[in-house]
Amino acid sequence: MTIQTEGWSLIETSFLPEQIHHSETIFTIGNGYLGSRGVFEEAFPGEVRSTFLHGVFDDVPIVFTELANAPDWMELEIFLAGERFGLDEGTLLSFERQLDMRTATLHRQVRWRSPKGRTTRLTFERFASLEDVHLAGVRVCITPEDYEGAIEIRSGVNGESDNLGIKHWEWLGQAVKGHSARLHCRTRSTRVELAMGFLLDVTAGSRSARISRWDVRNHPTLAASLSVRAGETVTGLKWAALYTSRDGRNPQRLLNGALRGLQAQDWDSSHARHVQAWQKEWDQCDILIEGDPEAQLAVRFNLFQLLVAAPRHDSRVNIGAKTLSGYGYRGHSFWDTEIFMLPFFIYTRPEIARNLLSYRWHNLPGARQKAWKNGYRGAQYPWESAGTGEEVTPTWVPNPNDRTNLIRIWTGDIEIHITSDIAFAFWQYWKATGDDAFLLERGAEVILDAARFWASRVEWNDTAGRFEISDIVGPDEYHDHVSNNGYTNAMARWNLTTALELVHWLREHHPAHWNKLRGSLHLQKKELLNWQHVIDHIYIHYDPHTKLLEQFDGYFQREDTDLVRQADRTESVQALLGIEGVSATQVLKQPDILMLMYLHPDMFDAETVRANYEYYTPRTDHTFGSSLGPSIQAIMACRVNDPAACEHFMRAARADLFDVRGNAGDGIHGASAGGLWQAVVFGFAGLRLLPDRWEITPRLPANWKHLRFHFYQHGQLQTVDIRNP
Ligand code: BGC
Repeated sequence: MTIQTEGWSLIETSFLPEQIHHSETIFTIGNGYLGSRGVFEEAFPGEVRSTFLHGVFDDVPIVFTELANAPDWMELEIFLAGERFGLDEGTLLSFERQLDMRTATLHRQVRWRSPKGRTTRLTFERFASLEDVHLAGVRVCITPEDYEGAIEIRSGVNGESDNLGIKHWEWLGQAVKGHSARLHCRTRSTRVELAMGFLLDVTAGSRSARISRWDVRNHPTLAASLSVRAGETVTGLKWAALYTSRDGRNPQRLLNGALRGLQAQDWDSSHARHVQAWQKEWDQCDILIEGDPEAQLAVRFNLFQLLVAAPRHDSRVNIGAKTLSGYGYRGHSFWDTEIFMLPFFIYTRPEIARNLLSYRWHNLPGARQKAWKNGYRGAQYPWESAGTGEEVTPTWVPNPNDRTNLIRIWTGDIEIHITSDIAFAFWQYWKATGDDAFLLERGAEVILDAARFWASRVEWNDTAGRFEISDIVGPDEYHDHVSNNGYTNAMARWNLTTALELVHWLREHHPAHWNKLRGSLHLQKKELLNWQHVIDHIYIHYDPHTKLLEQFDGYFQREDTDLVRQADRTESVQALLGIEGVSATQVLKQPDILMLMYLHPDMFDAETVRANYEYYTPRTDHTFGSSLGPSIQAIMACRVNDPAACEHFMRAARADLFDVRGNAGDGIHGASAGGLWQAVVFGFAGLRLLPDRWEITPRLPANWKHLRFHFYQHGQLQTVDIRNP
């Protein structure tokens, strides 16, 4: 793909059918309520067409639950003097597509010659309104260049949508009337109702098209037709509105009200309100980089992807690892949200951060249930989480190289660090915002119950006289069933320490609240004393001579291959050696110890950081390992003044734009996008928050002339403005 960068636009100048899935992902639009992939309105063979609505999950075998692909609102079937328009036929004379991120509008211009030799110009625009998240619009302008005849636009809401073959919707009713059509349906297992409808308006100058209504079951459709001369333009305007039973008890009534209001809607003023809403977002969230157009565009692109997926009006949903832009991980959420994406929201859009954190608070029952089922106390958060907060990690998945074989997925059983990651996120939010009310109402319960989980999860080793955590997988998933993973143990200790700090703070500043909480959680003095005992005795492997933390017991004894440093590799070391093979080596998918040092800059001295950086960096598969790694690696490189920071940063920046791992078609790598923001702010700018002020230690790439961004500290908007001399 040729992607050009121009200010705020991502521009594609040629159409390459073999790369459509990548393009569909990166041209996704959304408004935090819905996300629609960048498919063509008129469809294309082999496309992956989807619109996902936050929180609308339905049951499915193996992966338990997935976001249900909603009925399609974007479709426009176009007939030009009787010939169907489609890029799979005829001749494409010119093609350009732009995603204008400032206005969150997708544009496409096409000049096309039909199989019968007629030439037509078509322009498309599409947006999902940020001002009214239940509204989305598409406009097409069609100009026959060298012929006259009927231009017909057929459009509907297609309830036959599926998730790569799996149907989630059952039909409840529909209506076609005047210029509008509606569909009422419901997810099969979770029974979420959806009412979706649209208005279609097709004109040429002052003439309106003749509308025919096709009441096809599950696909109510309108067809609008007009005869025009060469050079005359037909404009088709489609407003779609959608409501679910998550929005109110009667989504149909909500839809009917919205459709009535839409009668008077004109494109320009509605779009202007949407643009205004985006302007407000960018005023707070944008990062300006002068001197490096590629980095500028990549950063905006990644922030845009986070913003289109961010729930603004819903505190019961989270952002999936692949946002709302593809089928990857089925819409499930991981630690990707709390550790990678959330900091961006905490510092630029704290209201959104509150929604995301609230999702975890609402899901405490699921986490408590998981702990209980496993024989532990407190709250153990699921590794993969969806609608209800239960564990939804698949246990077995088909082997991609041999479909007759299954692979056991252990993460849902033993990747347990997510519990402290979530507690950490609540604490970060509080530190940055000073929002005591939220800590009291929601955060405290999560942090305390997470600490309680850790105190019950650790195992006493009598011989060594210490607490250990055995048989787990750390963030580096190339090594599972390991013991005393440095990241997991240190984060557990942090969680317990912070819980005790919180208890002191509550006792001192909010005694009544503390009493209430202590009562509801049945927290007794003995239990708190035990937490301190665990803190004092939990094992973290550290060698004072080498200053190295061992990633897990026995890691240093594993084979030290230099496969990771082979420049001509085209696939991951795991793909080369296999799951067992890579596990026998020291090769890392992502470096746990450096991740720990990033999150806790005050826990380790500079020499320790450097020693670990130098040890773990050359053993990490930066190119094909985890997409979560490069941005954090860039930050740690900044900390030790390693010029490779830029290379790691650009690896993260290009991840989806250039489909570096070949899987961008499955959706945006949300964690990489969030990590990129952190790499600019905490890496290159070196921002450090102190209780009453902030400081920076800039280490900008040589070609960056100017960096500017804003962030909130305790509710006050701050600006960082750095010029490279
Ligand atoms: C990574 C995890 C991540 C998950 C979802 C995995 O490949 O190893 O750290 O949470 O993908 O993005």
